[in-house]
Amino acid sequence: MKVGVDRRDATAASADAIAVGLFESEGKEDHLPAGLARVDKATGGQLAAAWKRKELRGKRKEVTVFHTTNTRSRVLVVGLGARGSFSAETVRRAAAEVVRALKGKGARTLAVHLGSFVDGPVTAGGAARAITDGAVLGGYEFLRYRTSTEGTVEEVAVHLGDDHAPEERGLAGEVAEQATVAECVVWTRDIANLPADTATPERLAEEARALGKEVGVKVTVFDEKQLQKMGCGGILAVGGGSVHPPRMIVLEYAGGTRRGRTVAVVGKGITFDSGGISIKPAAQMSAMKFDKSGAVAVLGIVRAAALLKLAPRVVGVMCCAENLPSGSAYRPGDVVRTYSKKTIEVLNTDAEGRVVLSDGLAYAVDQYRPDEVIDLATLTGAQVIALGDAMGGLMCPDDRLAAGLLNASAATGEPVWRMPITDYHRDLVKSEVGDVRNSTEITVAGMLTAAAFLENFVGTTPWAHLDIAGPAHGIATTRKYQPAYQNPGATGFGVRLVTRYLQDLGRT
Ligand code: BES
Ligand code: MN
Ligand code: ZN
Repeated sequence: MKVGVDRRDATAASADAIAVGLFESEGKEDHLPAGLARVDKATGGQLAAAWKRKELRGKRKEVTVFHTTNTRSRVLVVGLGARGSFSAETVRRAAAEVVRALKGKGARTLAVHLGSFVDGPVTAGGAARAITDGAVLGGYEFLRYRTSTEGTVEEVAVHLGDDHAPEERGLAGEVAEQATVAECVVWTRDIANLPADTATPERLAEEARALGKEVGVKVTVFDEKQLQKMGCGGILAVGGGSVHPPRMIVLEYAGGTRRGRTVAVVGKGITFDSGGISIKPAAQMSAMKFDKSGAVAVLGIVRAAALLKLAPRVVGVMCCAENLPSGSAYRPGDVVRTYSKKTIEVLNTDAEGRVVLSDGLAYAVDQYRPDEVIDLATLTGAQVIALGDAMGGLMCPDDRLAAGLLNASAATGEPVWRMPITDYHRDLVKSEVGDVRNSTEITVAGMLTAAAFLENFVGTTPWAHLDIAGPAHGIATTRKYQPAYQNPGATGFGVRLVTRYLQDLGRT
């Protein structure tokens, strides 16, 4: 989808559809709200008439379609709720609702009346960015395996009108930057949505190599022989049960400044998680094709960093393996030696994410001496129990890094909640046979014991762990509670959040 700005009024362009926002409180006023008044003429006074008969309430998620006197166009009025609870997130959702409402309705171009989405804490720039996010993400569909498509909006123009035309240059820049980030999210979704027969570890390596050529980042792929030499016993153990061998993929974006920070971003890339010998129940096992979402988010983050020419150097590490049961699979009771030389007692082959990450985290810290390391992983079912499927868990003993990520989370609308790691959790993952064990004898605080496990492999480097088991993919049963820009399937969660964090680092 193309997004840009247009200095004219929304009605001046001959777009297939025009979108205007409407606040709820305005329903109590007598006069037609300014935003609606601007476009009413195009509808031949239908908006004013609908307003009079109290058809337009401005409630959130309410989209009302009006036909204009120009036969190829129409006006969509989208509810924004009360002014008091208005935020950029409201705009993001509203834009997605408009694009969704136009799906399969023969509308290729959309003109958005910016002024009607600017109020209180939401500046013109904030609204323009949120419209960009909502439209691009809300318009996304995974089409690879569909033989037909209903068609959706392909071009969005954010119309400034007299009120905002003087800010044209700044707004055009903000929209272009956000369109790049949002495009990286849908690019990530397209890979994360691939099923496990296609998205093998080697295929993810090919995607990384192609990205390297496209945006000019260095890509190194370690195959099973090299992983053996390097001592990456964790990734090898988890990948041992599959005919698709494991890979560790490293991407290096050099950064925009000579002496910038180095941030390592490490992702869990289990292309399918059957649980292995500790096999999972059949129900919803298909969703375990999304168990690579952390690693694919790393690809998307590196892509965004390179396209936006961000200041920090970014090292991406993807720990890719397929967790299947077979005669060559690792078993409960096995002890594996990892890159850091620390040993892991395997008590449950379904706690495989932490096993592959032990190599990736230690490798990143040892080889690149980063200023900080952030990992993204669909790590535990306990994360979904604790925080649900709309929010991720943030485990981060370093207050500065945590604050930066929480800021980025608030700015992007990708919610995460900070959770603790204490000595209680650390003790629970100590092993009597090896250094650490990958599971505990009783199920308590599963998200936190997993984090306490990972902490053993980052040394003293400031580290943040994002458990994205819930928000990495949308599920049909909770879909109506989710924002309209989160489609079913892979969401690309974490790309906007971590990219924002990297953007903010460049400024400080
Ligand atoms: N990939 C799963 C976690 C998961 C569960 C992601 C549900 C998305 C939705 C992970 O590898 C796993 O199986 N974790 C186990 C760990 C346990 C065996 C210690 C879990 O959470 O049950
Ligand atoms: Mn598992
Ligand atoms: Zn898993």
